[in-house]
Amino acid sequence: MEIISVTHYEEMSERAASIIAEHLRAKPQTTLGLATGSTPEGLYEKLIKRNLQKEFSFKGVTTFNLDEYVGLSKDDPNSYHYYMNDKLFKHIDINPENAHLPNGTAVDLDQECRNYEGLMKDHQIDIQILGIGLNGHIGFNEPGTPFSSRTHVVDLAESTIKANSRFFEKMEDVPTKAITIGLETIMEAKKIILLASGEQKAEAMKRLIDGEITESFPASILQKHSNVVIIADQAALTLM
Ligand code: GLP
Repeated sequence: MEIISVTHYEEMSERAASIIAEHLRAKPQTTLGLATGSTPEGLYEKLIKRNLQKEFSFKGVTTFNLDEYVGLSKDDPNSYHYYMNDKLFKHIDINPENAHLPNGTAVDLDQECRNYEGLMKDHQIDIQILGIGLNGHIGFNEPGTPFSSRTHVVDLAESTIKANSRFFEKMEDVPTKAITIGLETIMEAKKIILLASGEQKAEAMKRLIDGEITESFPASILQKHSNVVIIADQAALTLM
């Protein structure tokens, strides 16, 4: 693992944007794996700016998001479809048909998981962006998820529901299930960039970098990947 320690959130976002920009200039036909949450918002802002300045184009880019809540429609402001459109897609020159997220309102969710896997089979992810949950989840792969998992429906952990409730008006509105790509699916990416900011992530970062490789801490699987770059601010690395 390469660990890039930066001073603050802004610098974390800038470093990640530079790596992606350099890649897109060299290889315009790229597949990106994208994440949601607060962490990558700054990165998306920087990519939008660089795209508007014509530093590179998203016209040849295909994207796959990690996950989506079950039961939220695409135009629900709390859905990851809405987030991605609002924070990235509507501002850039990507062909919307090439931007993929699992459909959390599919009638047959297991079939939706198989369809999503099928789509991803044809596009190996060149760069996967990841955040990390406080309990070590990546995507929505909660503790206990087998390392061999592919795209599947998950019951969200109590702590994840609580952490994500900050975006919802009422606790009862927070979805309890999601579709997520699996840990094995994530590991197939050629390169992984994990972003972390803030002291609340320090414990998770310590376990990610130094801890035992175990299914009870899903992100620890990344220690087995040969091309992982962690970009974290000093607050997130305080326990290192
Ligand atoms: C959610 C997402 C993850 C994300 C995590 C951390 O659970 N499914 O992909 O990494 O939250 O979010 P944040 O970046 O807001 O701390």
